[in-house]
Amino acid sequence: MKSWGLLVYVLALSCSIIIVSSSTFLATPFEDDFLQCLHFNSQNFEIEVYRPNDRSYKSILQFSMYNRRFISPTTRKPEFIVVPSHESQVQAVVICSRIHGLQVRVRSGGHDFEGLSYTSHVAFVLIDLVNLRAIDVDVQDNSTWVQAGATLGEVYYRIAEKSRLHGFPAGFCPTVGVGGHFSGGGYGGMMRKHGVAADHIIDARIVNVKGEILDRETMGEDLFWAIRGGGAASFGVILAFKIKLVLVPPIVTVSLVDRALEQHVIQVIHKWQYVASSEVPKELFIQVYAYTVTNNDEDNNNTSTRRGFGRTLQTQFQIMHLGPREELIHLMEEKFPELEIKREDCSEMSWIESAVVFGGFPNTTPLDVLLDRTMQEKFAFKAKSDFVTTSISEVELKLIFEKLLEEENIKVALSPWGGKMNEIPDDEIAFPHRSGNMYLVEYMISWNEKEESTKPSQGLINWIREFHDYISPYVSMNPRAAYLNIRDLDLGHNKANETPTYSEARIWGEKYFKGNFEKLVNVKSEVDPHNFFTNEQSIPPMTIKCKVQ
Ligand SMILES: Cc1cc2nc3c(=O)[nH]c(=O)nc-3n(C[C@H](O)[C@H](O)[C@H](O)COP(=O)(O)OP(=O)(O)OC[C@H]3O[C@@H](n4cnc5c(N)ncnc54)[C@H](O)[C@@H]3O)c2cc1C
Ligand SMILES: *[C@@H]1O[C@H](CO)[C@@H](O)[C@H](O)[C@H]1NC(C)=O
Ligand SMILES: *[C@@H]1O[C@H](CO)[C@@H](O)[C@H](O)[C@H]1NC(C)=O
Ligand SMILES: *[C@@H]1O[C@H](CO)[C@@H](O)[C@H](O)[C@H]1NC(C)=O
Repeated sequence: MKSWGLLVYVLALSCSIIIVSSSTFLATPFEDDFLQCLHFNSQNFEIEVYRPNDRSYKSILQFSMYNRRFISPTTRKPEFIVVPSHESQVQAVVICSRIHGLQVRVRSGGHDFEGLSYTSHVAFVLIDLVNLRAIDVDVQDNSTWVQAGATLGEVYYRIAEKSRLHGFPAGFCPTVGVGGHFSGGGYGGMMRKHGVAADHIIDARIVNVKGEILDRETMGEDLFWAIRGGGAASFGVILAFKIKLVLVPPIVTVSLVDRALEQHVIQVIHKWQYVASSEVPKELFIQVYAYTVTNNDEDNNNTSTRRGFGRTLQTQFQIMHLGPREELIHLMEEKFPELEIKREDCSEMSWIESAVVFGGFPNTTPLDVLLDRTMQEKFAFKAKSDFVTTSISEVELKLIFEKLLEEENIKVALSPWGGKMNEIPDDEIAFPHRSGNMYLVEYMISWNEKEESTKPSQGLINWIREFHDYISPYVSMNPRAAYLNIRDLDLGHNKANETPTYSEARIWGEKYFKGNFEKLVNVKSEVDPHNFFTNEQSIPPMTIKCKVQ
């Protein structure tokens, strides 16, 4: 991101230079003060800063804005966007934002489902880490330092560049950022074998509220525990994670099996519930993906798949096996014959090629598509998550799937737990969703959002809320658990401009963190007692709890 034709706006000629994008607007006294502060606290490095009137401001703001729901003019925009190219500049932003009473929001990949990394209800500075994305793979040590602004695709690509026998167990979508994903958990096709991304973090660099850089040793084990699943935004700014790589076999097998609703798919999914999470070995991951399809075009007038208003449900069983094809076929014949998988549906490939396929591209796509931060089509959406802990009957599954046909553009993913996830205690790290879960349900409704429109599609959002109510008898209870990385402000949120109370935050806090919420509050109280690092769903410090009681 270097070709924006920046005009150098030199505030001081001595050591550091502050760059703002080409603009005829002069800084206001307040802006001047903030920029001067950045200058005095940065070391010898040019710093990229953008203000709302700058020409590139909008494109920088929107570049990593994955959910287009927040593109509307009513969404509050940052007073400044700082794009650091050096760690010291992150320190400077934290120090100066505190001095000038600005909130800070940190964005790595910008995939937050509620836009919390780039929106706020108060005046704020956006730290966009897109230029802090170095990846240093050490094959001998089986480890890698990854800067927070890197994407999953970049991480996978750089690992494979050094070794085809190493990999990393994180999410599917290549454009997701390391900063949000790793600190919230991070699951993908190797989770049953290796756990989540956060299980493999072995060190971290974080800027704390004082603007100091801490690593695992200096931050201490409690904070290090908290940023592995508790979300990092409540605690500081993650600069980089050191991760432990895992070994991957030279050949994995991938199969994407499409099934229409008619093809006994409900019975197959019913059986899948038991098979995928407990009966198959850890090497095998079978995810169910379902989406509504509306047949408006005349080319697609296959009446046998039509339902309701020309709408049907298509499903795809997405299979990743850490081993050769024959092994997968044998396993499927033995454990899951109902799926009727065919040999020609199964492709052998390297692990890195499987990352391309699960990223949504054909097997033949050049690997460097993984480096493309703009490849994903962006749309507006609202999503929610649930954990299923006891199997759902065939009759009930049928009702649920029929309910899905009420709306267009619905996507549902059922991701099997079990395997390694059952072996890790709930409180090992802050990410709490371990044994006792059969699978995660993620459901999403999407639409095209026009930049001019001020009202998001409230009806569609209401539909997914209704669906959330509808499935409540079938999912986890007390708490009704949810996955932090599928952020959902409907679960409850801190009020704008008010410090959250402990009891309010506990409502959503225990859904995301279960029994780990209390410890997260303790850590927060230690490291950020005045709640500088805050957002709609940040962990509240304990002092607030005492005040309330
Ligand atoms: C298309 C798509 C596919 C997805 N697929 C998967 C999947 O397969 N598996 C899975 O587990 N999840 C998946 N997710 C969810 C994803 O893990 C979360 O949205 C994750 O939080 C995104 O991280 P990010 O850095 O891109 O987001 P951001 O929007 O940049 O950040 C998310 C949150 O983390 C905070 N944050 C970000 N960086 C830092 C930092 N350096 N220091 C402190 N706080 C920080 C932000 O302030 C914000 O609160 C998917 C999301 C999308 C949109
Ligand atoms: C890296 O992993 C390999 C394979 O498991 C192992 O033989 C080697 O000792 C590991 N190296 C380090 C430094 O842990
Ligand atoms: C639609 O279906 C009818 C009969 O089922 C067929 O004759 C016609 O060609 C189809 N239309 C298209 C566009 O495929
Ligand atoms: C209609 O769809 C069903 C299910 O996908 C499929 O089996 C059938 O062959 C299709 N029929 C036509 C004419 O395309």
